[in-house]
Amino acid sequence: MTFTEIAEKRYSVRNFSDKPVEKEKLQKILEIGRLAPTGVNWQCQRLLILEGEAMEKFRRCTFFVFGAQSGILVCYDKNAAWTSDWGTNMGSIDASMVLASMMYSAEEQGLGTIIIGGYHEPRLRELFKIPDYIIPVAALLFGYPGPSAAPHPRYHQRKPLEETVFYNDFSSAVPTEDRTELHRVKFPD
Ligand SMILES: Cc1cc2nc3c(=O)[nH]c(=O)nc-3n(C[C@H](O)[C@H](O)[C@H](O)COP(=O)(O)O)c2cc1C
Repeated sequence: MTFTEIAEKRYSVRNFSDKPVEKEKLQKILEIGRLAPTGVNWQCQRLLILEGEAMEKFRRCTFFVFGAQSGILVCYDKNAAWTSDWGTNMGSIDASMVLASMMYSAEEQGLGTIIIGGYHEPRLRELFKIPDYIIPVAALLFGYPGPSAAPHPRYHQRKPLEETVFYNDFSSAVPTEDRTELHRVKFPD
């Protein structure tokens, strides 16, 4: 499969089968993540494998597991990340580069994937003993798609490029209203 074919085929899987992911496939995913570009090649990504007991713990932090047996909590060490001269810590970009590479590796190997950012971060920090200097970015869940796996009805609602791509400058950009309260995940205490 070409990269274009993989990218066109990928969608967020929200129904995983029980079939476990082979160790070799996980290893390949990790090796491909290792090749991702990072600021100054400082490789500040810190990855926590979610399988077995760890996946059970993750389940206690989120509504969004969809039967996945395997995943990776993608984090970065903020002290190990490059910070630009203007103060932007690049850690979340580095971690996202690794995450995206691993996601497409999983897809190439015939697995389905979903990225999960909707979790209870304080609970996550407590259960996985995450120190303050490690920042969770998102979890990548993967596995064999289950029988009812299908793209979400909104999958095809991609914005036209005119709304997201600008030429020359941003003078035609339209500000978006604050969305902080929109789509907030309500976790019970
Ligand atoms: C940073 C990030 C966080 C996400 N968090 C969640 C989540 O918590 N729950 C969920 O069901 N999907 C989550 N998704 C999946 C998105 O909803 C999905 O990528 C988007 O709707 C586009 O659909 P597609 O992936 O099928 O193309 C997340 C995706 C990203 C990139």
